[in-house]
Amino acid sequence: MLPESPPLELQFEPLLADRLDEVLRVEQRAYRHPWNRTNFLDSLHAGYQAQLLVAGTQILGYFVAMKGVDEVHLLNITVDPPYQGQGWARLMLDALAVWGRGQAAQWVWLEVRASNTRALRAYESCGYRRMGERKDYYPVGDGQREAAVVMSLRL
Ligand SMILES: CC(C)(COP(=O)(O)OP(=O)(O)OC[C@H]1O[C@@H](n2cnc3c(N)ncnc32)[C@H](O)[C@@H]1OP(=O)(O)O)[C@@H](O)C(=O)NCCC(=O)NCCS
Repeated sequence: MLPESPPLELQFEPLLADRLDEVLRVEQRAYRHPWNRTNFLDSLHAGYQAQLLVAGTQILGYFVAMKGVDEVHLLNITVDPPYQGQGWARLMLDALAVWGRGQAAQWVWLEVRASNTRALRAYESCGYRRMGERKDYYPVGDGQREAAVVMSLRL
């Protein structure tokens, strides 16, 4: 028997300025310290790799990455909270690795808040290793700061 409605088409598409309002709403839902419009616009103007993962017109998540000399630096990866825990980060990290290899990069590097256990687990589950820490890297409010864990994946 056919399903009542066809499955929504899942695809990656470039993150462009015309979807920024929606992306900023996801940021607000996903982070205590979200990126702002300028952070995204600067990334787009710099030509960074910025991809949306969409199901039909619905944004599930997105990532922004910068190409370096022989590495790719992941700057932002976010799954909209209602869609978290369904494998979408894993899919985006796979797509990032494919893109990085296509750029002849040998590594992906990223920083993640030391308190962000969910993200740390997601990265480790996708093969990333802890390479070190940067003390007092991120603001946490009230003038306090927290460390970043530096992680990398060999491509
Ligand atoms: C971190 C984040 C990107 C993970 O996305 P996700 O789509 O929920 O993750 P996935 O479903 O692809 O799961 C990948 C791995 O993450 C871990 N994970 C997922 N949901 C989890 C949960 N609720 N609790 C703990 N770990 C979890 C698991 O290790 C999982 O691996 P497994 O499939 O082998 O079990 C997402 O939670 C998010 O957007 N968080 C807010 C923004 C953020 O912190 N971004 C990272 C900044 S560095």
